Amino acid sequence: MAKTFYLTTPIYYVNDLPHIGHIYTTTVADTLARYRRLAGDDVRFLTGTDEHGQNIERAAKREGITPLELADRVVAQYERLRERLDFSYDDFVRTTEPRHERGVAEMVRRLDAAGDLYTATHEGWYCLPCETFYTEKELGPGKTCPVHEIPVEWKSEENVFFRLSRYQQPLLDWYASRPQPVRPASRANEVRAFVESGLRDLSVSRANLEWGIPFPGHPGQTVYVWLDALTNYISALDFGAERAMGAQGAMGAPGVQGVGGGGGEETAAMGAGEAPLFERYWKDPGGVRLHLVGKDILRFHAVYWPAFLMSAGLPLPTTVWAHGWWQRDGRKVSKSSGNIVRPDELIDRFGSDSLRYFLLREMVFGQDASFSDEAFIDRYNSDLANDLGNTVSRLVTLSRRAFDGRTPPHACTDNELIDAALRTTGDYREAMEEPAFQRALESLWRLLAQTNQYLVAREPWKLIKAEGASERLSRVLWNGLEATRIVAVGLLPFMPRSAAAVLAAIGAPVPESLSGLRWGGLPTGVPLPEPRPLFPRIDKEAYMEEADAPPPVSDARPEPPHAASAKTPAGGPAGTSPAPAQAAGNPPAAPAAGGPASTAAPAAGPSAGPAAAPSAGPAAAPSAGPAAAPSAGPPRLSIDQFKQIELRVATVRAAEPIPKSQKLLKLTVDLGEETRTVVAGIALAYRPEELVGRQVVMVANLQPTKLMGVESQGMVLAAVEKDDRPVLLHPSAAVPNGARVR
Ligand code: MSP
Repeated sequence: MAKTFYLTTPIYYVNDLPHIGHIYTTTVADTLARYRRLAGDDVRFLTGTDEHGQNIERAAKREGITPLELADRVVAQYERLRERLDFSYDDFVRTTEPRHERGVAEMVRRLDAAGDLYTATHEGWYCLPCETFYTEKELGPGKTCPVHEIPVEWKSEENVFFRLSRYQQPLLDWYASRPQPVRPASRANEVRAFVESGLRDLSVSRANLEWGIPFPGHPGQTVYVWLDALTNYISALDFGAERAMGAQGAMGAPGVQGVGGGGGEETAAMGAGEAPLFERYWKDPGGVRLHLVGKDILRFHAVYWPAFLMSAGLPLPTTVWAHGWWQRDGRKVSKSSGNIVRPDELIDRFGSDSLRYFLLREMVFGQDASFSDEAFIDRYNSDLANDLGNTVSRLVTLSRRAFDGRTPPHACTDNELIDAALRTTGDYREAMEEPAFQRALESLWRLLAQTNQYLVAREPWKLIKAEGASERLSRVLWNGLEATRIVAVGLLPFMPRSAAAVLAAIGAPVPESLSGLRWGGLPTGVPLPEPRPLFPRIDKEAYMEEADAPPPVSDARPEPPHAASAKTPAGGPAGTSPAPAQAAGNPPAAPAAGGPASTAAPAAGPSAGPAAAPSAGPAAAPSAGPAAAPSAGPPRLSIDQFKQIELRVATVRAAEPIPKSQKLLKLTVDLGEETRTVVAGIALAYRPEELVGRQVVMVANLQPTKLMGVESQGMVLAAVEKDDRPVLLHPSAAVPNGARVR
């Protein structure tokens, strides 16, 4: 019987839209799941969303919607990314689903049955975004959260506690077991040190929190979000369903794996007749249960979760793998750092597989890595466009030319590439077992390099002229194509679309198992389709220029003055032009459009930056600057002048892209007494569907103006982040549409 391989990502909070940090874990898990399926395992791959808790409650309130509406919105984004990035997960769990709530109720019942729950007063330093208490020792300077670096608050309330302290030794025994359950080793050491320093009991309920699962038997208490969230890994396998359906499970059932020689309180185990999925994927003694997590949430997974499972008398995960962080400008990519990288833009520009490849090639699994546009394009051009794309197209073109549009008629079973391929597939498989994705990819690229060296040495382009469709030429090209085929098979888990496209391009079938890595799979004499570029080269200079271009001013201008002048920033009056970036980044200057009556371009004052899109605009003609904002800085407004600017709150009712514009969106906004159309340069930061229902702040008394053929009847306001990304402004609580902003 196939080995079961259950792997999970963390479940993502719904107060944030997916960014590359989130997508990374799912990409890693997807790659591994695809590999394990090819290896013949019985794979189950789970991901999902974490929808309860105060953070979500507050975020929804800010948006003027219910937490569930907020969750639905974010889940829709994850759904979309599933399609876009070819994620092959088998299940998506949401903590608001009844199956999950059942699982949590059963978990709590078991912790209680094991005698591990009691009520006490809880006091401590609390970080809201973490939804967790910290000890004084753990806090950063100035009593700040060690993760979020923001001030923590003192909290005191009556809670249900879990006897975590009882599990200190069992956990230490577990860490010492082999194969090592917490990985990589460096992270395991940190966790062990934390546990060795002494475990205090954990409060597992919260008072005064509405948005969560009511704590069974404790009215007024809600299940602590982490106890709630961690249980997803088994609730998604229908853990608790049997009991909920009335099945009488025997207490103290046999067959539950104890932990590290003790501690596993097997008193509360469920009896016979557990849910089939749970039996199959959580209780298979020879199966793998692997949690992939970011390093910031390792403690929850490597301390609390196994302790809960021990208490509940359930098997533990076989591995908890903590990966590092994607950073940008030296800080973790996150909403609070303001350095978000959204996957959609990268997919739009480079394709989904290029993003998947970059994420897995650039980050050593377990360590931090840096994201930059430059690194992305370099990888794309050198590894994908050049090494992979060019090798395929060169081989296909030669074969088609020499062999009448077909693969070569003679195969070859004796040459140096065979040894190279053998070494590569050995290294590749070893790396994938570990898993060490970067090494696996390196081994494939080594084979590509060897293939190219082989071709350079054999010069088939000369053979074709000298010998025509000779047997020697056939063998040389067949070898090259066969080595490339093996690379493509190895790439299937990483880049499912492109790997299949390479296989189709060289006339090879897509294998269903790792046996496809064996030398000899390329059919002889089969038709080869006309080659088309798999990874068109990116002009890095042009791309970077676009990315570095001054911010949005131009986008919101009525007429792009000199649309083609992107490359001539000196086009404005020499030396006088204020850096448009500065102008746009200067929020108080934003509404200046309505200021001095002489301003001729109302839809976009000098600092219309807010409404406008980041960068990119080739039309960012600096000539716009000087006239509007003299070099001394933006003009000062009298209060009367400011009052001329009519700022109002509106709700976005509809949003759609504007054809041929990368940056502009057409919004239909509800101002209470009227509905308006507004063109906003925010398409690179927001997708239309995530805007609908949001409240925005807009300048309501601008003269209408046409942008890309659409009349804009106002301007929405946004702050512009470090990277020129607009972040829309909205009231911190829902207000009636049309409310005046002063
Ligand atoms: N909801 C919890 C997890 C509960 S699992 C039972 C949570 N959610 S999260 O949305 O904040 O984070 C989900 C995952 O994304 C975490 O593993 C986190 O480490 C990862 N990442 C978020 N930002 C990241 C980077 N910049 N880089 C890499 N991964 C990071 O925590």
